[in-house]
Amino acid sequence: MGLAAGYDAELRRHDKALRRAAGVRPHDHVLDIGCGAGQTTRWAARAARAGSALGVDVSAPAIGRARELAREEGVRNVTFEHADAQLHPFAPGRFDLAISRFGTMFFDDAVAAFANIARALRPAGRLVMTVWQARERNEWDAAIRRSLEAAEGPAAGAAGGPDAFSLADPPTVRETLRAAGFAGVEFTDVHEPVYYGPDVAAALDWVRGFACTDAVLRRLDPAGATRAGERLRRMLAAHLSDDGVRFDSRAWIVTATTTEPHSPE
Ligand SMILES: C[S@@+](CC[C@H](N)C(=O)[O-])C[C@H]1O[C@@H](n2cnc3c(N)ncnc32)[C@H](O)[C@@H]1O
Repeated sequence: MGLAAGYDAELRRHDKALRRAAGVRPHDHVLDIGCGAGQTTRWAARAARAGSALGVDVSAPAIGRARELAREEGVRNVTFEHADAQLHPFAPGRFDLAISRFGTMFFDDAVAAFANIARALRPAGRLVMTVWQARERNEWDAAIRRSLEAAEGPAAGAAGGPDAFSLADPPTVRETLRAAGFAGVEFTDVHEPVYYGPDVAAALDWVRGFACTDAVLRRLDPAGATRAGERLRRMLAAHLSDDGVRFDSRAWIVTATTTEPHSPE
């Protein structure tokens, strides 16, 4: 059985675009929202060599792993908090820059969450995040969805749970960020493939871990789950190339700046 790719491998090409857009400066204090195992927090900390980076995530195991990796890699100006970015009482105006690699789409109340993040930023502080474009533009979602629907019917498509596409629509995102205290919202198209692993077994491990896949597989009886696993395997095999298992994908890099406190827009 292969080794699952993990987000760092899956999103390698998106990561480059995010780094360029973030343009972390040596004295920056950076907040990484939904940091997972902290790869982006570590690169931000390295770039902010006279500053710092704080990664926050609601997943305790992810934060544990992030701390371990930062220790192993000897990155000293980085810290991690097990916290909900929507509610966490960050020190007001503490950060110059908030970044996120696909960690901001899952808030219960997006305006409240981004307002909390805006408060944590200094005036004219920047937000730079990658989010998925609409699901129809993301081949990986359509392919997984079709495989699961074949197992469970169209209800599988509405599996519920976190919506990875909640920030896909630019006018809605612009309005959400404006209401939260940001201005100058801009979108840059990132058209890069996602990578699910070097072989089909690794890709299947990775895809089985997605919340949407897991929710459907859990609802099936053992025979149904086996058949669904087989369908996923065949679908992934059809996307295997010399370069591993890849799918077309489309993301936005969203950038915005906090408005001065109390200044009219
Ligand atoms: C798709 S993963 C991306 C992880 C990481 N940014 C990366 O690129 O490796 C989304 C992450 O957002 C985290 N997350 C979701 N809601 C959150 C919230 N309200 N506050 C903090 N983290 C959150 C999840 O636990 C998960 O680790």
